[in-house]
Amino acid sequence: MKSSWDGTRYTSAQVLAHERHDIFERHWICAGRTKDLSRPGSFLRADAGTESVLLVRGRDGELRGLLNLCRHRGARLCVEREGDLGSSLRCMYHGWTYGLDGRLTGAPHLREVLQEGEGEGRLDLHAVAAEEWLGYAWVSLATAAAPLAEQMEPQLVHRLGSADALDEYTIDDLVAVDSRIYDVRANWKMIFENFSECYHCPTLHPELSAALPHFRTGYGTISGPVGQGARLADHMTGFSLSGKAAAAPLPRLSVESHRTFNSVNLWPNTVLVLLPDHVVCFRVEPRAPDRTIVTADWLFHPQAAAAPGFDPDDAITLLDIANRQDFEASERVQLGASSAHFSSVYPPHEHVIGDFHRWVDDALGTRARSGEPSAVAGE
Ligand code: FES
Ligand code: FE
Repeated sequence: MKSSWDGTRYTSAQVLAHERHDIFERHWICAGRTKDLSRPGSFLRADAGTESVLLVRGRDGELRGLLNLCRHRGARLCVEREGDLGSSLRCMYHGWTYGLDGRLTGAPHLREVLQEGEGEGRLDLHAVAAEEWLGYAWVSLATAAAPLAEQMEPQLVHRLGSADALDEYTIDDLVAVDSRIYDVRANWKMIFENFSECYHCPTLHPELSAALPHFRTGYGTISGPVGQGARLADHMTGFSLSGKAAAAPLPRLSVESHRTFNSVNLWPNTVLVLLPDHVVCFRVEPRAPDRTIVTADWLFHPQAAAAPGFDPDDAITLLDIANRQDFEASERVQLGASSAHFSSVYPPHEHVIGDFHRWVDDALGTRARSGEPSAVAGE
């Protein structure tokens, strides 16, 4: 048995400030689905640590990441979550205007400012690294961001057995038929800890454990042996509350994956659940030490979603029930974290939690000292 972090890792505002700086502003994070970002000028807004970022589709078809920060006096340019900028981005305060590529193109009555800033691009919007993968926009605020694949590959290999294990799910092509937002009164790391173990499954998830007999053992990591996943119960034709499939298996899925549940944590903010006929993508956004917004997208193949009589509710309900059970349990642990006697122990088979803790501690570097809150709080 391993014991782990003390309660301040989940309750301290200073710890979260360090995590925002060292984790959410230095690693790739998933910002949102790009299916609606095909037209030039379409955008979505996302938070990365303490920064607000705009993902903007340019006239050249490129998706760019730009800080949502006017270079004149620092006003936030967009407050909408998503939308259409048209051909340019105009600050509501004094009217400075930027092209879709972030270049300053207009500063009313200040021709000399424009000319001065123009040559060097000194007053253009700050650019941040952006990539598209799995039909999502990913951003990194790191100064020289390594490619997204470099961050994700070890996690994919570790959990799914290979870096291209997601290919057969063709997630890029899928469409979101539903999205749900969960406002969870728990620290963001508790969400990942919970998603990293299945010891809780027999107690907390009767519906899920009925669908996936492997979960009844309590010995699973989150989803069965690495690279294999957990098998659906014999009486189920698909992953849903009633056991009926909402759609045919995804078109490029191998026969071995036709009856499996699998999942992968893509730290620091994404979890994918891989099912025969759909994929669920979770994005985790810390708002406060004890509050996390979790967004879940249910992704189906567009042909299935367009078929007459398509009804995903039964499938959505099964995981939605489990989500609510998971988040309620995480909220209970959060209540425990304020106790001076808080501690947690992990049996060896829950190694994914240990992996997560090591990843977080590595990212925090010298700021992280398990069991030494003063080293985290005091620097
Ligand atoms: Fe944006 Fe002045 S703050 S134009
Ligand atoms: Fe769970």
